[in-house]
Amino acid sequence: MKHIEKQDYTIGREDRVVINKHKPCLIWFTGLSGAGKSTIANLLEKELYKQGIHTYSLDGDNLRRGLNKDLTFSKEDRFENLRRTAEVAKLFVDAGLVVIAAFITPYNKIREEIKTIVGEDFYVEVYVNTPLEVCEERDVKGLYKKARAKEIKNFTGISAPFEVPNSPTIEIKTAYEKPEVAVNKVLQVIKGKL
Ligand code: ADX
Repeated sequence: MKHIEKQDYTIGREDRVVINKHKPCLIWFTGLSGAGKSTIANLLEKELYKQGIHTYSLDGDNLRRGLNKDLTFSKEDRFENLRRTAEVAKLFVDAGLVVIAAFITPYNKIREEIKTIVGEDFYVEVYVNTPLEVCEERDVKGLYKKARAKEIKNFTGISAPFEVPNSPTIEIKTAYEKPEVAVNKVLQVIKGKL
């Protein structure tokens, strides 16, 4: 970067690990709208809180109301939405937190980019695998109905792609697993990391 020099601060991630008594990481939930990402993320955060772990949750629906409110659902804007979020997650990981992110994240390329931004050692990818038919049947927010009626364009699963993740750390099949079971699966994996 031209004319920009990195400034070094004395207190870093390792120092915050000492205060927090646990290491940080990023747990990134990917899956269709209505797959159950936010539900599982919320339960996970409650469980971590009980265990005295410092957390912060980033959610697509929430960030798109603030930091990312200038972005649409075009492929380019989704990439920017997720790039910005990954940079925020990286800062929060540096701040020592266990960051929980719930975003559709429909492309393998951007999932790879997120992993690169935050660093492979800190990245845990959770694929919330719920079939489109089930998400559409639930249609909690009524968006699938609107997407079918062409009132919403570029809707993931209907008029925009969702690439099945190549190599998620964890896969949750919500058709067979209750959210509590999913949370336990994530807890098992991150136990060794924190
Ligand atoms: S992402 O593709 O850029 O990762 P993100 O997770 O931030 O998406 O936002 C998804 C949420 O936005 C959905 O849960 C849904 O509520 C809402 N939404 C509105 N329009 C769309 C659309 N065209 N495609 C997918 N989700 C949409």
